[in-house]
Amino acid sequence: MFDRLTLVEDLVDCRGHVLGRKHLVISPEAIAEVGQRAPALSRRPLAETPLVADVAAPLGAPVYAPLFERPGARAEVEAVLRAAPLPDVLVEELEALRRELPVVHQHAFATAAVAVRMLLTAVGRTRTLPSLAAGALLHDLGMRHLPRRLHARGGGPLATRDGYRIAAHPLLGAFHLAAVLGSHPAVAIARCHHWRCGQGYPGLRAPPPRAVEVIAVASAFAALTHPRPYRSSAYDARGAADVLISEATARHADRGAVKLLVHALRGGEGDPREVRFGVPRDGHAPDQNRYAPLTAPARNAL
Ligand SMILES: [Fe+2]
Ligand SMILES: [Fe+2]
Repeated sequence: MFDRLTLVEDLVDCRGHVLGRKHLVISPEAIAEVGQRAPALSRRPLAETPLVADVAAPLGAPVYAPLFERPGARAEVEAVLRAAPLPDVLVEELEALRRELPVVHQHAFATAAVAVRMLLTAVGRTRTLPSLAAGALLHDLGMRHLPRRLHARGGGPLATRDGYRIAAHPLLGAFHLAAVLGSHPAVAIARCHHWRCGQGYPGLRAPPPRAVEVIAVASAFAALTHPRPYRSSAYDARGAADVLISEATARHADRGAVKLLVHALRGGEGDPREVRFGVPRDGHAPDQNRYAPLTAPARNAL
């Protein structure tokens, strides 16, 4: 099972601090251990940081209009995002993401907005929701640790080595977040968001908590609904939901989380467990799509 890797270079944060030295093994145990040594940093709500300017984009995006049609839904999501507590160093990481990898930054805010809408639909405003929103914003932090040339890839088939580098990002992000936040839901969110019911990476000994599955589905939905160089156009909300329904049917995505997405897209009234996946599916899909799914390592090669 692929559940650990060896650093091929130092893992460095946006301030230049070394989080882990080359040759360190990033394993579930190493992530737990670095979390125990994390400093107790004070956190500010996102509303008090420069990141507050980034909240409006996903809330106003036409593609997400079905999620926010119910009166008050947009304001509820906005309030949770603004309350997301972050230490300064992670605010700086997200600002660096905005400067250096704007597509990943946009994806982070879209994922957080969609995930919060889904979670509000499922359980209402709970005490942990702002921390889950912070985790959704940071779920792809590990992408910052990849070579820049991999971000410019066109989406076609990847060299095996490059595929392994990309497959490293959940573990790198989880280690980075554990080093800063200690015990925090963001760590599991980063580590598990490509698990795909065991069809993705890295391997897990047990399924992640449902909230993590919700954020994973929100991340997939956000990726499908944004332009990418390897597709002639983005999916619309319905087309993206169709893709995720097919994945849930094939057991490559969590069925309950996909039901919750469909439920939120339909307005969020009633019980999401009652959602039935309809046929036929008639959302917009791109005419051309050169996307090739990543083949993750089948086992560790340390
Ligand atoms: Fe990711
Ligand atoms: Fe993502």
